[in-house]
Amino acid sequence: MVYSPLPTIATPAHPVSGDRLRLGIRQLQPQLVEWRRALHQHPELGFQEQTTASFIAQKLQQWGIEHQTAIAQTGIVALVHGSQPGPVLAIRADMDALPIQEANEVPYRSQRDGLMHACGHDGHVAIALGTAYYLSQHPEAFAGTVKFIFQPAEEGPGGAEPMVEAGVLQNPTVEAIIGLHLWNNLPLGTVGLREGALMAAVEVFRCTLQGKGGHGAMPHQTVDAIVVGTQVVTALQTIMARNVDPLQAGVVTVGEFHAGHTHNVIADSAQFSGTVRYFDPRLKGYFSQRMEQIIAGICQSQGASYAFEYQSLYPPVVNDSTIAHLIRSVAETVIETPAGIVPDCQTMGGEDMSFFLEAVPGCYFFLGAANPEKGLAFPHHHPRFDFDETALGMGVEIFVRCVEKFCAK
Ligand code: NI
Repeated sequence: MVYSPLPTIATPAHPVSGDRLRLGIRQLQPQLVEWRRALHQHPELGFQEQTTASFIAQKLQQWGIEHQTAIAQTGIVALVHGSQPGPVLAIRADMDALPIQEANEVPYRSQRDGLMHACGHDGHVAIALGTAYYLSQHPEAFAGTVKFIFQPAEEGPGGAEPMVEAGVLQNPTVEAIIGLHLWNNLPLGTVGLREGALMAAVEVFRCTLQGKGGHGAMPHQTVDAIVVGTQVVTALQTIMARNVDPLQAGVVTVGEFHAGHTHNVIADSAQFSGTVRYFDPRLKGYFSQRMEQIIAGICQSQGASYAFEYQSLYPPVVNDSTIAHLIRSVAETVIETPAGIVPDCQTMGGEDMSFFLEAVPGCYFFLGAANPEKGLAFPHHHPRFDFDETALGMGVEIFVRCVEKFCAK
């Protein structure tokens, strides 16, 4: 594949700093689109991002940016230094795609059957690369170091935790971390963010109930796994309704339930699984304990037995208030209309950015990318997901301005 060469970033004769910055970034827009589309055509699942990682490494190499590859399998860390010593700010981008068959008929559609960048992570990589390139060309604009973290497997099983364990927040020690998600739940030209919890913890459970099967007309000789199971599913809803403080938000969803084979046989066993979401980190461990009490109590009352598995996947994404304020002030400059800032944005979706934010203060935010007039408003993880690529330049501008503020000279 042939890529067009990068432009030299022109500097007007007597610019104000902001104008020069925006002009420089606007000139990068064709490259941002080109990189995003190249990545879009070669989607890869978590921990298999070999082509994506080589693409990133090749660019960094070409621009003379110091970097290390193969961290937590396919992750990359790059360092861009300012013209004098100062703080270390990290910028995180996730790289993986999804097992979805793309239904878009666009020239840059996925060339891999059954795989698709249906969440916009191709755009996240392009934005981080554009930011790295711009800063490498403008070391005089900041002090200190910007550490770029290209992370595998956000969609699962989770690449952030192994990246943290591999020490990506050390050498040099990261003082704060920022990241964004292109977001089709918000229109282009908006930024959604929040101090505190932005996204929920993600936990999953699976349960098998063992009853005693028998004739549909002779229930007194059986332990009906469907009757036990439906009581359990209903009772699990009382955790949010009657156990957790009603001022707290959370969800207990049973997403699948399997039992029985035919109309006149009482089911011997039942299986169900689901997910738990909540924002307050103090609730960690509560749901698993309470669910098991409910399951055990109902099983005991009915003479059934159970096997219960519970796993905490991602903690909630919790933003530091100082860094959230920084992002907000920068976003106001970039978006230019106060109405474009969506404060108190929150979703029960989850993100493993949370592992970085548990380790260092930082802020994750949503960059509006939907444009219904262009047909670019399908939800994330939809086979026709696509976003307005104008958001790519806005993402770079927000990151660059954050660096200039956080790493001010
Ligand atoms: Ni995503």
